[in-house]
Amino acid sequence: MATRKIVTLGNVTLRKKSKPVVDFDESLAVLLDEMKATMIEKKGVGIAAVQVGVLRRAVIVEIEPKEYLEIINPQIIKTKGKVSDTEGCLSVPGFYCDVERPQYVKIKAQDRHGREYEFEAVDYIARCICHEIDHLDGILFVDHTEEGQKYKKQHGVE
Ligand code: CO
Repeated sequence: MATRKIVTLGNVTLRKKSKPVVDFDESLAVLLDEMKATMIEKKGVGIAAVQVGVLRRAVIVEIEPKEYLEIINPQIIKTKGKVSDTEGCLSVPGFYCDVERPQYVKIKAQDRHGREYEFEAVDYIARCICHEIDHLDGILFVDHTEEGQKYKKQHGVE
């Protein structure tokens, strides 16, 4: 399976808003397969299409060891609680900081065939899902914390 190059912080593409997926076709299947292969190669636990340079609302999260949830056109329909824990991102290699996220999240999304489903997650997986959905709106985890803001300044990137 082919892998794709990861877009990193400083590249303006990461800051753009992704567009909804409208065609649930072979090219979407290839994109998802290559996103997954890229994420596994880079040892990530989640990836958004924008991170491989494709501005479409598609993300993948590893919800159990080697079990991958494909999340297309997601909407967050419910959140509960707040919890702080360490995060990193394939697009910000080598930097980690604590970010506050909901403890519980419920989403509505589509699979690669366009079928709608709902999914609930807590703790670490809820965190991953929120982090990846942020990517679809050009938001990065470094935007949420002071350390992250400092990191961007130090590196002269936005
Ligand atoms: Co990320």
